[in-house]
Amino acid sequence: MKIAVYPGSFDPITCGHVDIIERAAQLYDQLVVTVFPNVSKNGRFSHEDRVEMIEESIKHLTNVSVERFDGLLVDFAKAKKAQVIVKGLRAVSDFDYEFKMALMNKKLAPGIETVFIMTSSRHLYLSSSLVKEVYGYGACIEGLVPPPVIKKWKTLEDCQK
Ligand code: PNS
Repeated sequence: MKIAVYPGSFDPITCGHVDIIERAAQLYDQLVVTVFPNVSKNGRFSHEDRVEMIEESIKHLTNVSVERFDGLLVDFAKAKKAQVIVKGLRAVSDFDYEFKMALMNKKLAPGIETVFIMTSSRHLYLSSSLVKEVYGYGACIEGLVPPPVIKKWKTLEDCQK
């Protein structure tokens, strides 16, 4: 059985992430989407909310599960008996960071391969950070993030009023 993990901070999940998940789900028997805290980024959403938004957004995929993990990605992958780490790649600007992480993960766990899936061209410009920025200025984010994210965002804002 081929098992893959798809890690990220998913703060929040975007339509670009969903596209990578849908395509990876066709390549592997099981895909575990894993929410990690990213020490270098300030989070907008709690980890519980991130997991919930992903679960709601990928309900149609029967071989995909969602988990949260605080620790090394390779330790999580080993615990899941995953042979593959899936990462999405948008542009050359992603490459340096992703390449270093892939090599470090290979050093830590030689038996696990990192597989890159190129983003679809319609999502090339899309990132969680940019979505947060434009939404903060009142832009419409329909089509950029899945509907559960918009719903959660509105609920959180209503609670803060
Ligand atoms: O969506 P992001 O923020 O680019 O995801 C980065 C993430 C979570 C994949 C990366 O920070 C990670 O793998 N974190 C887990 C801790 C770890 O294993 N760090 C060493 C990576 S070489």
